[in-house]
Amino acid sequence: MISESETTPTSLLSVEGLKASYDESIILRGIDMHVPPNSVVALLGRNGVGKTSLLRSIMGLMPKTEGSITFDGQSVEQLRTDQRARMGMGYVPQGRDIFPNLTVQENLEVSLSISGKAGKERLEEVYELFPVIKDMLGRKGGVLSGGQQQQLAIGRAILTNPKLLILDEPTEGIQPSIIDQIEDAIHLLKKQGNLSIILVEQYLDFAKAASDTFYILDRGSVVLTGESDELTSEVIGKHLTV
Ligand SMILES: Nc1ncnc2c1ncn2[C@@H]1O[C@H](COP(=O)(O)OP(=O)(O)OP(=O)(O)O)[C@@H](O)[C@H]1O
Ligand SMILES: [Mg+2]
Repeated sequence: MISESETTPTSLLSVEGLKASYDESIILRGIDMHVPPNSVVALLGRNGVGKTSLLRSIMGLMPKTEGSITFDGQSVEQLRTDQRARMGMGYVPQGRDIFPNLTVQENLEVSLSISGKAGKERLEEVYELFPVIKDMLGRKGGVLSGGQQQQLAIGRAILTNPKLLILDEPTEGIQPSIIDQIEDAIHLLKKQGNLSIILVEQYLDFAKAASDTFYILDRGSVVLTGESDELTSEVIGKHLTV
């Protein structure tokens, strides 16, 4: 008989030995990273160490030279970005991915056109997480503040009904009150279950509070990984302060 533990995958996402380059320069030097189901993983590191490149490789936006990427029990290496998205990877790139010339409502509709019924069922949830979205449905995306645009970008990703939400520096350049709302949203999403999050973050208090485990990258390699409550000021001083 097969027991539960043998049938339940231990990782939603597994990255193993991942290497990637831009032209001549090697950017990722053999990354191992595991995202368990229903967990938040913080991906940390100084500027330029390869955090965004790792996310782009996971999404199939940057080709890998070696290694494997397994998502939801399936190898995704041969899949295009849109196929990975349909499997349940929701990606919010660094610097807000919205359509500035479409209204907020139209921005949401683009996501709903991908996810259909499952996404529509999450619309009320997005309005609850970020009430400002509901208040501004008729406005053009481009007139929202940076923080509001970030909320819209996260809302759009939720409407694709992802199993894995990938957030690249969601608090970058955003006012503190909106950072708090994004942090609350991450906690709420996690509490509902059935979703894991990769959170790239420079704001360490936020990353520590929001995540279960962490990975620290340096020059394309994982230099430290562990439980997020082990992120002491000593660890931070050694690996993360400039
Ligand atoms: N399109 C590109 N072509 C060539 N090199 C690139 C390109 N994009 C990024 N790089 C280089 O790859 C390295 C890793 O960049 P990446 O954007 O992944 O870092 P990061 O950790 O996300 O940095 P940040 O914290 O500033 O967002 C850097 O040295 C960067 O200069
Ligand atoms: Mg980056």
